[in-house]
Amino acid sequence: MPKPFRIGIAGLGTVGTGLVRIVQEHAALLDARAGRPFEIMAVSARDRKRDRGVDLSAYRWVDDAQELASDPEIDAVVELIGGSEGLALDIVRTALANGKHVITANKALLAHHGFELASLAEEQGVSLAYEAAVAGGIPIIKAMREGFAANQIKAVYGILNGTCNYILTEMRETGRSFTAVLEDAQAQGYAEADPAFDVDGIDAGHKLCLLASLAFGVKPDFDALKIKGIRHIKVEDIAYATELGYRIKLLGIARRGDDGRIVQLMEPCLVPTGSPLGAVEGVYNAVYVEGDFVETSLLTGKGAGERPTASAVVADVMDLARQIRVPTFGVPAQELEQAAWAVTGETRSHYYLRLHVLDRPGVIADVSAILRDLNISISSLMQRGRDPGQPVPVVLLSHETCHADMEAACEKIAALACSVEEPCLIRIEEL
Ligand SMILES: NC(=O)c1ccc[n+]([C@@H]2O[C@H](COP(=O)([O-])OP(=O)(O)OC[C@H]3O[C@@H](n4cnc5c(N)ncnc54)[C@H](OP(=O)(O)O)[C@@H]3O)[C@@H](O)[C@H]2O)c1
Repeated sequence: MPKPFRIGIAGLGTVGTGLVRIVQEHAALLDARAGRPFEIMAVSARDRKRDRGVDLSAYRWVDDAQELASDPEIDAVVELIGGSEGLALDIVRTALANGKHVITANKALLAHHGFELASLAEEQGVSLAYEAAVAGGIPIIKAMREGFAANQIKAVYGILNGTCNYILTEMRETGRSFTAVLEDAQAQGYAEADPAFDVDGIDAGHKLCLLASLAFGVKPDFDALKIKGIRHIKVEDIAYATELGYRIKLLGIARRGDDGRIVQLMEPCLVPTGSPLGAVEGVYNAVYVEGDFVETSLLTGKGAGERPTASAVVADVMDLARQIRVPTFGVPAQELEQAAWAVTGETRSHYYLRLHVLDRPGVIADVSAILRDLNISISSLMQRGRDPGQPVPVVLLSHETCHADMEAACEKIAALACSVEEPCLIRIEEL
């Protein structure tokens, strides 16, 4: 009888209970696939009395989750508590230092401490696995580390937050505002009571850092990421985008330029409706990879929720039980480079620019003069309705332009007497 692979679970919330449920429902299947049994030896959470809807009676309960990190009966600690600091970080550090494998779904932890923890894992000859940390139901970490290992990756684009994608989809389909859709999503449990991590792009940003590291062999660097969330997106922008043949997506972009510098951005973008990412709607996530040999590849699936996320955790457990060991970020930690990040202002794109300006003679000439002075060339201009003296929307699409120039144009247009609202500037990605 082969030796069982023994895990301890720290955290029994959405993902932790999901993990227990899969192990219980699929015990025979998982043992057969791993070629050895795997056992949950101990579990820990804050409240022992809470009914979690799963039977925990067969497992040793540990009050202090930190103890799992030095438990001699455990081969791998599964950290499902969350947070980039505090207990999660302590448990992961201690477990690795004690020569235990770690499996985590914690993107925040890895975006901030990934290099340190990957180095520690390698020093100790153990694995740090995190399939569930990025786009839960999509096996993207395995795809990046193993499936695309033959390729120079040129770019990775991701729709990495299901809550944002759901909100943007609902806004388009129902014509309701961001606030109304968010409130509804919170009431139905699709969005957190504090939605900032999701709607301000931080959660997706954590995931993008990990993908950038895997794609380009660089240290994850959350501080180098420019993030813009979706709070400022209005139904009218979604409607104009639709009319112009685009969808608005909160898009993560990690792309290496010809000069070797890496663009790392998380912001709402217009993508063509018929493009692979334009078609990804609702709570679905997707990652679109461009490699020199594979060309393009699209992976899509549910990015969060108990079952898809726990499924990804189990995938890591299986790899470790099968003794598959891969460097945390695809190359040995000491070979991860410090990236040369591109300056956002220097990135070039086509842009969507929506203004609200008073409908009076000379306004378009004033706007055009600002754009001309900044060398911004316009590919189309659309003004809806006529209402002399009243605010009307004007939508412009630019040819390829430098981001800093577009921002400077927005500032100057906002300062015009005829401008009644901050212009809305959105990058266009013609994928
Ligand atoms: N939920 C998802 O869909 C999803 C998707 C991808 C990744 N993730 C990641 O997975 C991780 C877990 O997320 P989750 O949604 O499962 O979180 P959750 O439902 O909030 O569960 C967190 C668990 O940690 C326990 N915990 C918190 N503080 C603790 C402490 N001081 N000592 C011991 N236990 C403590 C809680 O105990 P009590 O239950 O007793 O309060 C709870 O069981 C996070 O890193 C998250 O980012 C989640």
